Amino acid sequence: MIPIKTADEIVRMREACAVAAKILSAMAEFTRVGVNTYDLDCFGRDLMMEFGATSSSFQYPGRKGLYPAYTCISINDEVVHGIPSKDVVLKDGDIVSIDVATCYRGYVGDNTRTICLGNVSREVENFVRSTEEALSLGIQQAVEGNTVGDISNAIETHAKKCKYGILRDFVGHGVGKNMHEEPQIPNYGRRKTGPVLRSGMTLAIEPMLTLGSEKVFIASDGWTVKTLDGKLSTHCEHTILVTDSLPEILTLVKK
Ligand code: MF3
Ligand code: CO
Repeated sequence: MIPIKTADEIVRMREACAVAAKILSAMAEFTRVGVNTYDLDCFGRDLMMEFGATSSSFQYPGRKGLYPAYTCISINDEVVHGIPSKDVVLKDGDIVSIDVATCYRGYVGDNTRTICLGNVSREVENFVRSTEEALSLGIQQAVEGNTVGDISNAIETHAKKCKYGILRDFVGHGVGKNMHEEPQIPNYGRRKTGPVLRSGMTLAIEPMLTLGSEKVFIASDGWTVKTLDGKLSTHCEHTILVTDSLPEILTLVKK
């Protein structure tokens, strides 16, 4: 069963997602050459406390125990679930994805951005921009009456056009009271397949792409997902609300 949020829950989701978006945005501004990812994570954790929110990632159960940090920070060949560390100091040319999932007054907002630090090549800039485009094309399909496969296919089609690899084992998801609800939203699939979207569904759509092969492995820390060939990867994510007209992007930062 895919939860359909009531009008009251939608208000809560808007608030929770606004908090998640503000925290991600502030962390993005804090992100610069010379900063270590542990300090960046602490900055995010402190903001969560100020907002009265909690991290949905912290102590999330995985194959090797509980996730130990408040956000996921994945650099270069790390695709997702990078564990922040004092030993990881950001350097010129890095591409840094920051994944912030927070719970505020009982509802979860989930969003991710990939940031280019300093001098990156045109190829890498295009790669990050194309991932954002794939996300945006996926979101455009998230309307009442369409299917999950329509979202998946839009992302896949764009990624394939650009010849990027698509992660198979990690997918987007419904989000609400819990960080992960039905449905799963793969970044590949066929149009007109899968569950039908209904207004009131809230979904985290999150393309994870690679600049080489789509083969990945999990590092010895039990969490960090890395590309097998060591090539770069990106991750962008928004939480959206399905409506009977245009999707509402709940994790957009409103100035
Ligand atoms: N925010 C991630 C997602 O999109 C999940 C974080 S995984 C965790 O699903 F282990 F860090 F919690
Ligand atoms: Co997510």
